[in-house]
Amino acid sequence: MFPNTDPTRTDAWKKLKEHADWMHGAHIRKLFAQDPQRFEKYTLRFEDILFDYSKNIHTEETIELLLELAEACKVKEAIAAMFGGEHINRTEDRAVLHTALRNLSDTPVYDNGEDVMPAVRTVLQKMRTFSAKVHSGEWKGYTGKKIKYIVNIGIGGSDLGPVMVTEALRPYWKADMQPYFVSNIDGTHIAETLKKINPEETLFLIASKTFTTQETMTNAHTARRWFLESAGDESMIKKHFVALSTNRPEVEKFGIDPENMFEFWDWVGGRYSLWSAIGLSIVLTIGYDHFEQLLRGGHAVDRYFQETAFAENIPVIMALLGIWYSNFFGSETEAILAYDQYMHRFAAYFQQGNMESNGKSADRNGHPVEYSTGPIIWGEPGTNGQHAFYQLIHQGTRLIPCDFIAPAISHNPIGDHHPKLLANFFAQTEALMNGKTEQEVRTELEQLGKTEAEIEQLLPYKLFSGNRPTNSFLLKEITPYTLGNLIALYEHKIFVQGVIWNIFSFDQWGVELGKQLAGKILPELLQDEAVSSHDSSTNGLINAYKQMRK
Ligand code: F6P
Repeated sequence: MFPNTDPTRTDAWKKLKEHADWMHGAHIRKLFAQDPQRFEKYTLRFEDILFDYSKNIHTEETIELLLELAEACKVKEAIAAMFGGEHINRTEDRAVLHTALRNLSDTPVYDNGEDVMPAVRTVLQKMRTFSAKVHSGEWKGYTGKKIKYIVNIGIGGSDLGPVMVTEALRPYWKADMQPYFVSNIDGTHIAETLKKINPEETLFLIASKTFTTQETMTNAHTARRWFLESAGDESMIKKHFVALSTNRPEVEKFGIDPENMFEFWDWVGGRYSLWSAIGLSIVLTIGYDHFEQLLRGGHAVDRYFQETAFAENIPVIMALLGIWYSNFFGSETEAILAYDQYMHRFAAYFQQGNMESNGKSADRNGHPVEYSTGPIIWGEPGTNGQHAFYQLIHQGTRLIPCDFIAPAISHNPIGDHHPKLLANFFAQTEALMNGKTEQEVRTELEQLGKTEAEIEQLLPYKLFSGNRPTNSFLLKEITPYTLGNLIALYEHKIFVQGVIWNIFSFDQWGVELGKQLAGKILPELLQDEAVSSHDSSTNGLINAYKQMRK
């Protein structure tokens, strides 16, 4: 049974509040000095991933109380409910079973009493056969040429996952296969992509769960028109357009052969769909076997998440530390900092994953929550971020917990680039924790020959308070399998937080209002008359636009 517990009414929450009052005076540097075993105590391993959470503002008691909170909020029961196919996405009356897409075991998974696994396997097999045909050249374009360009047209969950994964796994790209991703309704996005490809050698993947999303359908129709300008013949569409969707009638209406539809189901949330048919661009880019490794990586974490005691369970600890800072330290954002250039879209991917899931303010009884929920997620790859926004993380007024992620082995071991990259990773987490004391600043300035007056003047600016928390993920190497691990760890973190915050993490009603209003405004933009039906600002902007475009 999916729980429904107000976290603030639990004893654990009350105890955490009192404990936090005391912990606000603690410093991670001192916690390390007091406990030589801190690293060993607060490091967890999952296969080739090491998760070090020792550089957080916590003691043994903090973790015990947070674990008590997880228990009081019935996280264990919630996990069983999700994997058991209960309709935990209650506002849409749907199960949440993206984990079934990577279930490579023989275990059945039920939705409404029906095992979903046969259908999952059928689609996977279809993706495998199809991609083999494309790669071998058996699948030909309308002039008999092999497919060379893949253009995935989708947005949100139908774009960010495939973009992030294909970028992260560039070293695994098939030769002669170039993927492009078009998401923005801004005509520039598709126009610039069409310049790089030719219709004879391009396969368009129209990726949309609903097949009604304005951005995707507009881009898809533009691609279709562009293709027909060369091919001329509608019957050639079936060689160049496939659909990744749950909506067969709309796919057929668009003119895509149902044979070319790769299906998925309403129990797959858009932002959790890269494991489904939405992953076809990944399959075509890196090959089916590598995609299967990605699924295997996700599945291994699913089992670990279900079977591991919470004290040793990486996603549970990640979630609890996030709650510790959001709800007991008032921190509002979390940064994800990948020290791997290939992972440059990882933060953007989990920006949607996290913010669309837990950016909610009504609890599971429909009441407004009286505590903060999902944090603002952001980040850029290291070391670029160091020269952009780390200043604020080090010396600003806000507490920004950061996740640092890096592989021990680089796919591009050129000279000493990788040791230098990792030296920066380790140095940053150490500096964020330790800061720089007054004595250290004085000694440094004295060694530079500064006078006492100069030292006094510079001192306030050169001080670093430290005590800025970080988690470190060290992976042996970024492979399809370890990437699958990492994605699933973050997904389950989001899930655990949603359970404790007592919100529904798998709907996204908040994106509807803007869509509805855009639908109302579009016809107004297409007429010449001035509009007066909105507030004065919106009217003013619309009317100024009409003037300017003349
Ligand atoms: O942004 C809202 C949203 O519904 C996301 O959840 C989803 O990933 C995206 O739009 C795209 O939706 P679709 O796959 O149906 O085109």
